[in-house]
Amino acid sequence: MMLWERHSYVIVAIMSIKFAQIREACYKQIMDKLQPIRGMKDLFLADAAAQQHIINTCYNVAAKYNFHHAVTPILEKTAVFSRTLGDSSDVVNKEMYSFEDKSGDNVTLRPEFTASIARAFISEGLQQNVPLKCISNGPLFRYERPQKGRQRQFHQINCEWLGTAGPMVDIEMIQMAWDMLNALGINHVELQLNTLGDAATRQAHKAALVDYFERFKQDLSADSQTRLQHNPLRILDSKDAKDQDIAKEAPLLLDYLTNEAALFWNQLQATLHDLNIPHTHNHQIVRGLDYYTHTVFEFVGKSDDLGSQNTLLAGGRYDELIQQMGGPPTPAIGFAMGIERLALMLNECAIKAPHAVIIPIGDTMTACLKLATKLRAATQHVELIHGGGNLGKKLKKADKLNAEYAYIMGEDELANNHVIKRHLATGAQEEITL
Ligand code: HAM
Repeated sequence: MMLWERHSYVIVAIMSIKFAQIREACYKQIMDKLQPIRGMKDLFLADAAAQQHIINTCYNVAAKYNFHHAVTPILEKTAVFSRTLGDSSDVVNKEMYSFEDKSGDNVTLRPEFTASIARAFISEGLQQNVPLKCISNGPLFRYERPQKGRQRQFHQINCEWLGTAGPMVDIEMIQMAWDMLNALGINHVELQLNTLGDAATRQAHKAALVDYFERFKQDLSADSQTRLQHNPLRILDSKDAKDQDIAKEAPLLLDYLTNEAALFWNQLQATLHDLNIPHTHNHQIVRGLDYYTHTVFEFVGKSDDLGSQNTLLAGGRYDELIQQMGGPPTPAIGFAMGIERLALMLNECAIKAPHAVIIPIGDTMTACLKLATKLRAATQHVELIHGGGNLGKKLKKADKLNAEYAYIMGEDELANNHVIKRHLATGAQEEITL
């Protein structure tokens, strides 16, 4: 080989190494950019198993209360939420993922289920089906500051009961919520509740709150000064230390309850007491969404695993919402639980191991596919091992999957219409007829 030929080989080799390095660096740069969006998570294996376990458990409890699965679209016209959740709510003001679609309509990725269910109740003519008791689950979107237990895409299990009035329905809803948490083994929880009374109660209380907070207007946070105009009740919910200090002496809604609202609240509390349902009264629960009337409640987790986002489940009565949205007067109550927050309180949720692993050795794949079909038809969970490798390597894979049995099929076994069934924990094996 001439010297110049040898040089050109070396140059080509160096160039191809350099080229591979540049290509790898480019891929890495692209992949670095292709992370999930901030506040949104991928769920696989144990995390996904925990979510599925929570959904299945809650649906089993809901079925005992005769609740049925309901589905609404993830995307709704923006007005569904902006008109119902309240223009002073953080969800509407700051957190909605809203955009114009290709036909120029303003649409929003749902930040919660309740308004969508109320919209569907009216647009699907579901009045004929009251009482309508429905359970839903799925993703929701709020542009919040992500932290432990708070995401921008999160998941809820949401239950609504439309069409029945009175505090005894509230009791059943609260019982169902307790049953769901108990079925999940989540016990370190406190039920806190409050009343927001009826429309007349809130009007009288609002006037008293405006009077009171006007006196401290200069000292209130900017957010609370805005709330003073639109919804002074929300000042009681403020996280600002100075607002909280001022709010301590604010007029209590309880002092403005109409006779009807007081009767509702007293009956609710007396029945909770009679049924030994543990609860505490928390005046500060006013909820961040504007549609609530009478009973509002939150289940607060008492575990360090939750951090500051410790409300696991929240809800309340919303007797006026459906009429406000243009439907017939329809009393209603509901609650939603954050699946991610529940998952933080669950013990590690193991992913389900297959009953059996089938190991083909040599040219036996077709027979193994037939065996897998038979076992699956007999409700077994089966993993068929694909690809090369010797028996030892494939048995290691089977062990890693935590399966109970391996079915090993070599060409000799197939010729005799047999398969070896091996108990993976003990290594004991027997030959069985296919
Ligand atoms: P909410 O209080 O806005 O109420 O949310 C209910 C639950 O969803 C919270 O207690 C929490 O567990 C979970 N959650 C809320 N935001 C996030 C987030 N950014 N990240 C993770 N989890 C979150 C409602 O949504 C009402 N629609 C409940 C209702 C149903 N009221 C009547 N019917």
